[in-house]
Amino acid sequence: MKIIGSYPNLRLRRLRKSTWIRDLVSESNISHKDLILPIFIREGKNKVESIKLMPGVKRYSVDKLSNILKEVERYKIPMVALFPFTPNYKKDEFGTEALNPNNLICKAIKFIKKKFPKIGVMCDVALDPYTTHGHDGVIIKKKIDNDETIKVLVKQALLYAKKGCDIIAPSDMMDGRIGVIRKALDEENFKDVNILSYAVKYASNFYGPFRDAVGSKSKLKSDKKTYQMDFRNSSEALREVGLDIKEGADMVMVKPGLIYLDIINKIKRNYNVPVLAYQVSGEYSMIKNAIEKKILNNDAILESVNSFKRAGACAIVTYFAIDIAKIIKNQLK
Ligand code: PBG
Repeated sequence: MKIIGSYPNLRLRRLRKSTWIRDLVSESNISHKDLILPIFIREGKNKVESIKLMPGVKRYSVDKLSNILKEVERYKIPMVALFPFTPNYKKDEFGTEALNPNNLICKAIKFIKKKFPKIGVMCDVALDPYTTHGHDGVIIKKKIDNDETIKVLVKQALLYAKKGCDIIAPSDMMDGRIGVIRKALDEENFKDVNILSYAVKYASNFYGPFRDAVGSKSKLKSDKKTYQMDFRNSSEALREVGLDIKEGADMVMVKPGLIYLDIINKIKRNYNVPVLAYQVSGEYSMIKNAIEKKILNNDAILESVNSFKRAGACAIVTYFAIDIAKIIKNQLK
């Protein structure tokens, strides 16, 4: 890029001299409308419990979801993403509970659609919260079996769509599942249900606190490297996205977020598709811990999520969604 002009005619500080001019020339912005809040759901009644590795984040029994949904409504967060904490006795090798029409996710969708019909609902399609081994798919002959897993995922996606889920979000990283799910949704007349593919999901060390939150951490004895992406790769992300768009994904997710900004930007420059970012649990906990210890201040949250917008993401899944909305409104002390 050519720089036109030079000092002293050109003084870039002139565009930074006051808040209003900085606002006028800002190249990206974060709004409450760009945010998706993940919510953890547990069994029982009247339960709101803390999650050890994620300070400030809680698990709610379905009847207590209003506590958090009222905040979502008040701060006009457009959508929530639901994740279940399944009790051990409901887990098995095949993740059968994923297909129980009365499981935690189904109950939560029903509750939200009845009491908070304006809030969008997005559901993860993967088996890890339901399996005794903590993997996203079914294991056959000691391997995560791609095609057998897809058969279950399709049923899981249809079940959530039937219950009223707005956006189906396969996060399992099996090959070919988007096409099969799209076809099944269309055949069952769910043509308007969106698919947000976790097209680029890395085998990351930053999911630890989430796995603790859904109760799969202690179950998982190995890593997920045979299905999630290798963190050394970047071109491969474009192949993943290309395939998923062809198969019918409406939007794609990059996950984790902060340490993969290059990937978000690369996808944005190569494809005409909405790209979302997931600021995952490990990123959240690091920043949150630093704020609690007064190493960072609250504006660090805003700076971290704005980076996704600058990189090219249209929306961000973040555990900070309510905090961000408060910061924007100057309500977070
Ligand atoms: C499960 C799933 C994971 C996350 C979202 N969906 C964990 C994993 O793949 O092990 C991680 C989210 C986070 O860390 O905040 N398929």
